[in-house]
Amino acid sequence: MNETSCRRFQGRVALITGAAGGIGAATARRLAAEGAAVIAVDLADEAGQRVADEITRAGGRAEYRHGDVTSAAVWDELADHVARHHGRLDVLHSNAYAVVVKPAHELTEGEWDGQLAVTLKASWLAVRAFAGQLTDSEGSLVLTSSVHALVGLPGHPAYAAAKGALGALGRQLAVEYGPRMRVNTVLPGPILTAAWDRVDEAGRAASVAETVAKRLGTPEEVAAAVAFLASSDASYITGASLVVDGGWSVVKASA
Ligand SMILES: NC(=O)c1ccc[n+]([C@@H]2O[C@H](COP(=O)([O-])OP(=O)(O)OC[C@H]3O[C@@H](n4cnc5c(N)ncnc54)[C@H](O)[C@@H]3O)[C@@H](O)[C@H]2O)c1
Repeated sequence: MNETSCRRFQGRVALITGAAGGIGAATARRLAAEGAAVIAVDLADEAGQRVADEITRAGGRAEYRHGDVTSAAVWDELADHVARHHGRLDVLHSNAYAVVVKPAHELTEGEWDGQLAVTLKASWLAVRAFAGQLTDSEGSLVLTSSVHALVGLPGHPAYAAAKGALGALGRQLAVEYGPRMRVNTVLPGPILTAAWDRVDEAGRAASVAETVAKRLGTPEEVAAAVAFLASSDASYITGASLVVDGGWSVVKASA
């Protein structure tokens, strides 16, 4: 687990999707280190169970649940499970994603629908299932968007559309469920996770050069932002978008 002296989530319950690796796993570790009982949801069972086991071994509380976030039935089961076994939900981090890198005219209908389902529809399904528990606990929803919501990159039409829509959804939900639930969006830039496995060394170096920080970010650096937004430290922040990109979206490269 992360080394932190904060215990902002003591006695709280947090559910994180896409928690088998990368940013979701880092958020699970961070919230557990701060006292939360964590429910880690993913499709990658071995890796997801490993994350939960590591947290438990380190003295935290975590369980892994297999679940496809695009399924309404899965969300209903999760809401039932959390209500019965934990009695409350304080934090929901909707973080799973799917991407197919192709220009718009080459995407199949299934590829378009699939990406929007994992990234966008799943976040709505999450709220539909957990709005009651989250407002009861005066809890917090954090959506993982992306800097792709702000600027265009070739080959990401459905991904960017879904990530952009998450910002609008977050603002809408903040208004709809405030003041009893806060809703915020985090926009990571280039963060070194399995998502970068398909990028070669030259591509990574190019992305590093495009940041102010001159390096890729770590999942832990995004998890810290998610934990902040989900915590009472952010009690007056709702409907906001927090960019965590080492300055990638503000730098103007000079020749
Ligand atoms: N890594 C980056 O550079 C970067 C940049 C911007 C935004 N993001 C966003 O951060 C989030 C996490 O990405 P990551 O880089 O940690 O990726 P990752 O591949 O490490 O983790 C994504 C997880 O989502 C899970 N998942 C996929 N489809 C699912 C489904 N239908 N149901 C349940 N789980 C499912 C995968 O099994 C995987 O464990 C994503 O929303 C991504 O768009 C990442």
